[in-house]
Amino acid sequence: MPRSVVGKRYKHKPFNVITIDNVEEARHWVARQRAAGRSVGFVPTMGALHEGHLSLVERSCRENEVTVCSIFVNPIQFNKSEDLEKYPRMPETDIGLLEETRCDMLFMPSEQNMYPEPVTKQYSFGHLDEVMEGAFRPGHFNGVAIVVDRLFRIVQPTRAYFGTKDYQQLLVIREMTRQEEHPTEIIGCPIIREPDGLAMSSRNIRLTQEQRKHAPAIYEALRYAKENFRNYTVPDLENEVRKRFNIIPGAKPEYVTVADTNTLVPLKKWIPNQPAVMYVAVYMGDIRLIDNMILE
Ligand code: PAF
Repeated sequence: MPRSVVGKRYKHKPFNVITIDNVEEARHWVARQRAAGRSVGFVPTMGALHEGHLSLVERSCRENEVTVCSIFVNPIQFNKSEDLEKYPRMPETDIGLLEETRCDMLFMPSEQNMYPEPVTKQYSFGHLDEVMEGAFRPGHFNGVAIVVDRLFRIVQPTRAYFGTKDYQQLLVIREMTRQEEHPTEIIGCPIIREPDGLAMSSRNIRLTQEQRKHAPAIYEALRYAKENFRNYTVPDLENEVRKRFNIIPGAKPEYVTVADTNTLVPLKKWIPNQPAVMYVAVYMGDIRLIDNMILE
């Protein structure tokens, strides 16, 4: 089947994705593509791939001549060692899923290969990493920025694709890209949801049956916020959503914040024409889920 067929999954005749686990080899592979004048699309991931990741891969395949996906569970972005240990790892399944896309190369480096020396770099992102995820996960965005910078130096992508479920991460990566002067275009892609509204996440597979049954109530509360925000002040809307989270069995909200979409500055009141998004983090047992919803 020709590679020029756009946006199609190869259910019956999967491609063999080239898997490279070595930084130098990956660099050479990409250099050959660049030398041949091909644009390189890149989808960095931590594995446990789901439809959300695959939608990024498919978009990259439509918009670039070659697509690279990486799987690397980045230890320096976890602020709790228990979270790192429990992060799902399923490389065989991931490779099988990628083989049904038109992804060309999968980069799966080892920790030693990515971080041969201790990491000391400290980025400064101003208030971008002081609110919400930044406030509750100290050091998280520094770890994300360091690994994405390293991956960009190896893959040298023309375009890189990230989901907007991690909207704050997307803004931090845009800022890191600007600071490091990477020529890569950063593309934010829509949140992909399960049919019942739960935002797709690699962490969802850790939910018990009971937690999974109740987790879509997070989306329902966000939809309520979208449909009714005009009837509330900002703090009252945040309280209403927090109240709705508190009655989900097994759920514990960490934050519910309405902020400006572009700057992430938390809003105290509605300002006409100011784009507002509600950002939330909710624990279901010990599994932390994040989501967001554009209000206007
Ligand atoms: O969103 C993720 O999966 C990770 O934070 C990323 C961007 C791959 C960096 O490790």
